[in-house]
Amino acid sequence: STPKILAFAGSTRTDSFNKKLIHVAANAARAAGAEVTVIDLRDLELPLYDQDDEEAHGLPPGALRLKELMATHDGLLISSPEYNSSLSAVLKNAIDWASRKATPDEPALSSFTGKVAGIMSASPGGLGGLRGLVHLRSILSNIKVLVLPQQMAISAAHKAFSEDGSLKDTKQHEAIAEIAVRLAVVLQKLNS
Ligand code: FNR
Repeated sequence: STPKILAFAGSTRTDSFNKKLIHVAANAARAAGAEVTVIDLRDLELPLYDQDDEEAHGLPPGALRLKELMATHDGLLISSPEYNSSLSAVLKNAIDWASRKATPDEPALSSFTGKVAGIMSASPGGLGGLRGLVHLRSILSNIKVLVLPQQMAISAAHKAFSEDGSLKDTKQHEAIAEIAVRLAVVLQKLNS
């Protein structure tokens, strides 16, 4: 069956470089035969995780929506900004909410278990957000996500994209496409 991939950036910023990058990856995954749903974490309106709030009110609508989306997709494409050498609070907050149970009988970490992820980053800086990817890979692996070995950090991101949203540098484009295509291929194999 057609692999289904949920794609998002760990930034809510309107002109986010990571949002641009996720569109490049999404297009490459579609070209490889996957069905891709791109979401903007801003639309989920997730509050900052608070265990007292969760105990009092359960999961907020945005967290339920994210868990629903994860349940109906087998793969994840994530483009992560680097904030102070780690992933953004927005991304970690979304991961934390999705790691919680919607109902008491839901198995632990069921939103993540068995998912396959391709990760990438973009930053105006010289390292492209690579240090954040080290943390993101570790976190996802610890919650039972299979993270593809391929990854890519786009440095000087403010100069990397053309008007039409594509990456100017062919090698960079190929590295992002490689992550997306690998993900589609691995999901296809797991599905068969
Ligand atoms: C940053 N930025 C940044 N960049 C980087 O390469 N390494 C870093 O450690 C940090 N740290 C950092 C902390 C905070 C609080 C902010 C707001 C920013 C710069 C960051 O890469 C830049 O703002 C990007 O544009 C963020 O990604 P989006 O929103 O363009 O996807």
